[in-house]
Amino acid sequence: MIKGYELPLGLDAEIDSLEELIRKHRLGEVSATELKAHRVPFGVYEQRQTDTYMVRIRCAGGFITPVQLEGVSAIALRYGIGDVHVTSRQELQIHYVKLDDIIAIMRRLKEIGLSTRGGGGNTVRNIACAVDAGIDPQEIFDVSVYVSALTTRLIAESDSWNLPRKFKIAFSGSAEDEGYATISDVGFIAKIKDGRKGFRVYAAGGLGAKSAEGKLLLDFIDAEEVYPVTKALKNVFFKYGNRRNKHAARLRSLWQNLGEEEFRKRFSEEYAIINAQGVTPLLIEDQVQVVAPTAGGQKISFDQEDFLVWKTRFVKPQKQEGLYSVLIPIELGFISCDSVAGLARFLKPFGSDVLRMTKDQNFLVRNIPSDYLFDLFIFLKNTISQLNQPALYARILSCTGASTCQLGICFSRQAARALMDELKNSNLNLDKIGDIKINFSGCPNSCGHHPVADLGFSGKALRNLDGLYPAYSVFAGAIINDGQTKLAEYIGEIPAKALILLVKDFLSAFISKAESFTNFREYIRESGKVDLKEIILRYSKVPGFGEDKKYYFDWGADTIFSLAERKAGECSAGFFDLLEMDLNNIRNTQAALAKDTLDVGQKEKLLGELVFYASRALLITRGLDAKNHKESYEGFLSHFIGTGLVDESFRDIITDAQRGDTDKILAKQAQVLELAKAVQALYETMDNSFNFKKPVVMPEASKKEVAITIVKDFRGVTCPLNFVKTKIELAKLKTGDLLEIWLDDGAPIENVPGSVKAEGHKVLGQKRIDNYWAVTIEKK
Ligand code: HEM
Ligand code: SF4
Repeated sequence: MIKGYELPLGLDAEIDSLEELIRKHRLGEVSATELKAHRVPFGVYEQRQTDTYMVRIRCAGGFITPVQLEGVSAIALRYGIGDVHVTSRQELQIHYVKLDDIIAIMRRLKEIGLSTRGGGGNTVRNIACAVDAGIDPQEIFDVSVYVSALTTRLIAESDSWNLPRKFKIAFSGSAEDEGYATISDVGFIAKIKDGRKGFRVYAAGGLGAKSAEGKLLLDFIDAEEVYPVTKALKNVFFKYGNRRNKHAARLRSLWQNLGEEEFRKRFSEEYAIINAQGVTPLLIEDQVQVVAPTAGGQKISFDQEDFLVWKTRFVKPQKQEGLYSVLIPIELGFISCDSVAGLARFLKPFGSDVLRMTKDQNFLVRNIPSDYLFDLFIFLKNTISQLNQPALYARILSCTGASTCQLGICFSRQAARALMDELKNSNLNLDKIGDIKINFSGCPNSCGHHPVADLGFSGKALRNLDGLYPAYSVFAGAIINDGQTKLAEYIGEIPAKALILLVKDFLSAFISKAESFTNFREYIRESGKVDLKEIILRYSKVPGFGEDKKYYFDWGADTIFSLAERKAGECSAGFFDLLEMDLNNIRNTQAALAKDTLDVGQKEKLLGELVFYASRALLITRGLDAKNHKESYEGFLSHFIGTGLVDESFRDIITDAQRGDTDKILAKQAQVLELAKAVQALYETMDNSFNFKKPVVMPEASKKEVAITIVKDFRGVTCPLNFVKTKIELAKLKTGDLLEIWLDDGAPIENVPGSVKAEGHKVLGQKRIDNYWAVTIEKK
């Protein structure tokens, strides 16, 4: 029986612990960063609107029962703003949720067998599946059951939540690769060999700012190997993935960095270990039986024209004779809670496996006997506004874009909507265009799947003499198919306001030549890209602001285009942000301690805090998420001092801190400062997989009398005043002492180190931290 997936046993405890964190956050005891590190892996992202959240609900392979759907609709009605969103990875989202409602949402979801766990962050994300798995006449076999079983297994594993980056898995039942297995971190495509059920396995593909096609890892594995192979790839990623640079952290970067041979070698090693340990095979259960409703149902009314048009556009026969699948177009994935609830109620008599979400942000209803198609049509006609539009509308997809996403550059959703409005009013015969995908992403991150589109757009900002204006990179001609997958090609860039004209011209160009090609895709491959380049040239010029202001306003925007509200996104937030947070805490405390105006009490407090931050910072690299002082000190003693990674001479400071002997800590100020430096230095030696190089043991002499390091914050101090202040600080030190100064980017970092060197001091190093620089100087 397909159940989607089973909830992990520890879920209640995890929800309780998140509730406690939110409570403490409200009291100011837990920072926003710490909370973020825990909520994002739980699929809770902050929207662009401060303190407003979206919640992503895991729906394995897009599967959801009508009862669950009705439940989600009720939750969204109570806590959201009256609608539900179908995502491009076959999940559901509730938007505009308050932080204080998150826990209630999670508990109510749990009651209906759903969870948000792994909805975001560096985790095993929702497993995607060809939406027509189980009903596609061309499929080799139904892969849905593997999606459910693998989800159940992986969400229960603790290492699925602390990966270097997100980890996306997909399944397809045929070479058409409807599930996008060939562009996922791990992808499985059904194959039968010598009468045995199995899969072709792709790895290290995926969409993002640097999208990549997957590589064929194994030409055939037996179906029982799905879990061991996935586990081995997950282990390779966990052990060797890059945890220091989130922009080069996905499995595809690891493949690129190691090279194919080394990647395969490490995969084989992990695979051998797993097999030696022995694993329990996935529980592959029988599929849901198709249910025919016992009441209702009318013979097809052949004479009703709109019904017939609808059937040609949206209804397809399944491999099961007499049953049909029906695509329900959802405009840009948004559907009102009332419509969702109505649909859920309508579908209940058809059994639990009657609905899946598509990657085009639509619903696909399945298992409808022909006698019931007319009923469904009438129901949808009164519920779904797009029902009388050509299927092309259902294929226009956009990510949320800058209206809610913190990373968004352009209002992609508004651009997509404007395009739909324009097409509705045009006299183009869109039914002739067929099944093409037009995809929008609000920035290069590809959430709107532009690299796999027939025609794709990704938002960017361009500048001319009159200022910034919204624009899009244009891509075309993706091929998704086992053995042939090729991402869409970059064709050029256009101002956002020219986008609609461009699409219309491109569609017209095809319609006028349609007779010469089998379909739009063939046209794009054979001559469409050349036409598209010409059209781009036609529209790439942006008039001056005085001449035509509209180019400087994005679609749906009433203020001039700007990037001011763009924030650092939360896409990779996870436990490892905590490390950055403590390293920042260390730096800020060092700076605070360098102030001349501190009284003894302040100094004592700051030194205590410094010991705490220094002991906690690197614990996360050892899998410890220390919640308090006690756990931090114990962890530091056993994992860092006990292992020799940090010099034994620091043990007594930690012991003083454990006992709360703050006056002893005050007396050891120089050593405390050195401890912080030692932790920072150790961090500098850390490789991508959290291994530290053997630490430099402190010479005996320096344990007794360490060079004092003073940190001075000259951010916001302009040239040449920052150099003058540096000189004053250096004058207070003796030869060999170290001074660290913090300088703004730009002129300060370009000038001050040079001037310091010219005075004969040594600049030992300069390092960029966020938007400023830390420069270490040794006094001459
Ligand atoms: C650097 C940051 C981000 C990257 C690289 C990124 C990348 C992606 C990619 C490639 C997809 C397509 C799903 C697939 O692989 O099939 C996706 C889906 C999505 N992204 Fe992002 N994303 C980022 C940040 C965000 C943020 C901040 C938001 C919040 C508004 C967001 C919202 C979504 C949504 C709603 C989906 C649809 C699917 C889902 O996972 O259920 N993304 N993202
Ligand atoms: S593509 Fe960019 S704008 Fe769109 S949701 Fe992803 S990060 Fe946000």
